[in-house]
Parts: sequence; C-alpha cells; structure tokens
Amino acid sequence: MSARNFITTQDWSADELQALIDDAGVLKKTPVQPRLGGKTVALLFFNPSLRTRTSFEVGAWQMGAHAVVLEPGKGAWAMAFEDGEVMDGEAEEHVREAARVLSRYCDLIAVRRFPEFKDWSIDRRDHVIKAFAAHATVPVINMETIVHPCQELAHAMALQERLGDLKNKKYVLTWTYHPKPLNTAVANSAAMISTKLGMDVTLLCPDERYLLDPMFMDAAQHNATASGGSFKVSHDIDEAYKGADVVYAKSWGSLAMYGHWADERAVREKFKHFIVDEAKMAKTNNAVFSHCLPARRNIKATDAVMDSPSSLIIEEAENRLHVQKALMSKLLGA
Ligand code: CP
Repeated sequence: MSARNFITTQDWSADELQALIDDAGVLKKTPVQPRLGGKTVALLFFNPSLRTRTSFEVGAWQMGAHAVVLEPGKGAWAMAFEDGEVMDGEAEEHVREAARVLSRYCDLIAVRRFPEFKDWSIDRRDHVIKAFAAHATVPVINMETIVHPCQELAHAMALQERLGDLKNKKYVLTWTYHPKPLNTAVANSAAMISTKLGMDVTLLCPDERYLLDPMFMDAAQHNATASGGSFKVSHDIDEAYKGADVVYAKSWGSLAMYGHWADERAVREKFKHFIVDEAKMAKTNNAVFSHCLPARRNIKATDAVMDSPSSLIIEEAENRLHVQKALMSKLLGA
C-alpha cells in the first residue's frame, strides 16, 4: 500500500481533520514530546517562507526528529517534473530520482512549490506535489502549492479556540487588494475547510473575474452540503460583512486574466476599497479577523484591525507549529 499523504484536506474526512486539531491541542499544552525519535524529515522549499519553514523545523526538533531543509535551484539541484521531459534546460535532476532518493534517507517529504503564474491550465494540475507523491515511498506533505492544507488546520484550530463550535457560524472569505497578483492557494483552502466544518460561508470578491477555480468552488459546495453549512458568492461588501462571525482576508490574482498581469493590474487597482477596516468590521457580529500572513498592513487590512482584540493572526500562525506536529505524528504512526 502506498504511503498516506497530506496533499489536500479533501482527501481527509472532517473527523480525521478534527482528530489532528485535537491532538494539536495536546501538543500545544506539552510541546516537547519525543514521539518521532530517530526520524528524519525533508523540507523542500522552492519558494520563500518564514512561518512554514520555522514551524516545521522547530516542530520536528520538539518531537525528536531531524529536519533537512533543501532549496532546489539554490542549495540543491534544480528539478524537472514532467514525464518524458527532455531535460535540456536548467534542471539537473528529475523528481523521479529525487523523490525516491529522499525516501531512502527520510521518513517524510514536505514540499512548497507555488504556481508559475503563467498558465492556469498547467498550474491547476498541481503536478509538482503530485509527482512527489507518485514517486516517493514515504508520506508527502503539502507546504503550499495551489492549496495550503497546513494553514487550513491552523486556521480552524484558532477559530475553534476562540469561537467553540463553528457549525453555522457566518464566515466571510474576502478578497483584498494587493499590488501583486498572489496565489489562490489560501483562498481555495479557506473555502474548503470553512465549508467542511459546517460554517455558512460567503466568498466576497470584486466580480466574477476573481472567482476561484470551479474545482474548488465545487468542493466548497460539496462540503457545505455534506456538513450542513452553506456556500455562496457575493460581490456586495455591506451584505457580506453584515452579521459575520469570522472575516478571513486574502488577496489573489484573477484566474480570468492569469498570466496577463499588466491587464489584471489595471482592473485590480479599482478595488483597493476591499481593504478590511474598522468600518467594515463594525457591520459584523463582533467578528474575529484573521489572515494567513504575511500581510501588507494598511493594504489588505488596517493597523486597527490587525492589532484589535478580535485579530487571530498570531494565534493562527502559532497553531501552524502544533497542527504540523500532530500531522507528522499521524503520518508516521507515532
Ligand atoms: N502562512 C505561511 O505559509 O507563511 P510563510 O509563507 O511565511 O511560510
């Protein structure tokens, strides 16, 4: 049987995800538990990170494991991923070898690889992490590709810690302005976990050009039906914020204009008013606010919102450590 992976939360039931969050709570109370003595974890970063890298490295250490950080294309060989590829470019190594060799050294492989932002029909295949999963013989963890499932767990944990039972809480996932087109991963993930936990979810974005990929919209709808929650789209800021219990902010580039970023920028510039500010938060049901971080202050959310008692940004970031330890523990049967 192939190893169990953590590529997307859609492969895990709500009960399984809750068990991870519950174990994270145990680990939060007693952080140093030598559950993974003698184990090794490979952390492959194709893109930068502050939280993910630190929380995985520290988490592995706190459980007695050793983490090896690799940056393909920098300190490690650049890599190719396509089957049958003629490797006449920069890549010196194919994932077919890299995944199998790392599996001989390490008990887990975790990968961060953002989309290339040129052609969504290619990026939406999520082919890099899938290639690692196909060729590795140890579990593979997604540290952010076109979804960010570890962030989902940390976000859900922070919400449960503050709000308790999340069923039918009103959750607003709001697009915000950002000067650059960003990954849709966290928005895709937020839509999936909020609906999986039974919340009444509104995806607020400027217009149809900022909708998420249908595969994630469909997943959210499917989850909502199964969990007794709901999922809808709104382009009306006042209507979306009214009575909300949770406001989760994220910026992402338009899939309708993917790769045509000069055109998209001209559109995006008109939507700076999607910033999360005190006036919008005043329309809510005393909602909590969160963001995955990093976040540009006074662009995505104002200082007042980021620093308010309702802000869960630091708690959510802290919980990355605890949920990832629970996840590594589960995948390694500890
Ligand atoms: N939220 C998150 O993944 O942060 P980093 O990009 O710093 O890892």
